[in-house]
Amino acid sequence: MRILAIETSCDETAMSIVDCHGESKKPAFTVLANLINSQIAIHRPFGGVVPQLAKREHIKNLPILFKELEELMQQAGFTFATIDTIAVTVGPGLEPALWQGIEFAKVISEKYKKPLIGVNHMEGHMYSVLLPKSALHSKVPKGDLEIKNFGTAHPEMVFPAVGLVVSGGHTILVQLNSFTEWKKLGETRDDAAGEAFDKVARLLDLPYPGGPEIERLAKEGDAKAIDFPRPMLNSNDYDFSFSGLKTAVLYHIRDEAPASGLSQKQKADIAASFQQSVMDVLIKKAMRAAEACGAQSVFLCGGVAANKTLRAALEKEATSKGLHCFVPEFTFNTDNAVMIAAAAYIGSFNGKNYPITAEPNLNL
Ligand code: KG4
Ligand code: ZN
Repeated sequence: MRILAIETSCDETAMSIVDCHGESKKPAFTVLANLINSQIAIHRPFGGVVPQLAKREHIKNLPILFKELEELMQQAGFTFATIDTIAVTVGPGLEPALWQGIEFAKVISEKYKKPLIGVNHMEGHMYSVLLPKSALHSKVPKGDLEIKNFGTAHPEMVFPAVGLVVSGGHTILVQLNSFTEWKKLGETRDDAAGEAFDKVARLLDLPYPGGPEIERLAKEGDAKAIDFPRPMLNSNDYDFSFSGLKTAVLYHIRDEAPASGLSQKQKADIAASFQQSVMDVLIKKAMRAAEACGAQSVFLCGGVAANKTLRAALEKEATSKGLHCFVPEFTFNTDNAVMIAAAAYIGSFNGKNYPITAEPNLNL
């Protein structure tokens, strides 16, 4: 199945063409095109994503990316006739942003008489662990357009598997019994992990998005310097809570910072200690869930999975317990349209097709 996918749920306008093969037990993907136009630089001065600005940028970028896709198809010697299906993210996300992708997808679906599938963005993140290995060496320069040919691959995931889906809007622990059967074990009760990274970054005067900035600064700091709380670490469930941790950082800065502000060393220690708290909670809860459900594999995905310190810590912990550990190729951690094609394909095995209307609060 050749899928053209569109993603506009937040601040990346993304389009892909992906050849999807294999049965539901062994899906595999060949990425023909992966185009991402990041708006990070536009939202950065505002310290976060501004929905109306995102909408305006998607309106501008969608036709540009589509033209690039058409040129790419022409160069590669195939036409729109070979596309089987169009897939578009319908939620969760920012409503004005989602609508732009949906309206654009509707127009091309009608024009080229192709079926249109609605896709859940979080399922996209979940299936990003299946995307091709060869993407490991590719780079998506922020703000630039990317067109790359990746190889075909899929990890040999052994079930049951327990996964952490951690993004800017969600922190979900999920159990997969196969690629098509899964259930949510728990989720955050307040802030998502990525949101906590972004908010703490703001407290430290670091630019948006905060995750990569905190990770960079944490490398210079001591993760044991400050004993920040590990919220809900020992709670008898698989839920999370990160807003108290953010408040603890706020109080620490208020109480500790000299009048002249924080030194670079103090900031680095806060970043490292905060990151350690988030990692401890995520990893411990995932490992506890894995043990409880007899998991053979654990995986990590969503924007926060781009954090190399977290990836390494989870891999170490999982390996020490004899579990297989999967993380997406670096390119596919943050928002992209390849994962949307993958979710549309895997969803097609259970006849899944979300209504073609923006659902800002859609969940896993
Ligand atoms: O999945 P994503 O691109 O968009 C959503 O669906 O939310 O995730 C974006 C989130 C942001 O909160 C960002 O700060 C976080 O992922 N993030 C990171 C890192 N890179 C991105 N968090 C921690 N460490 C990183 N290296
Ligand atoms: Zn996302």
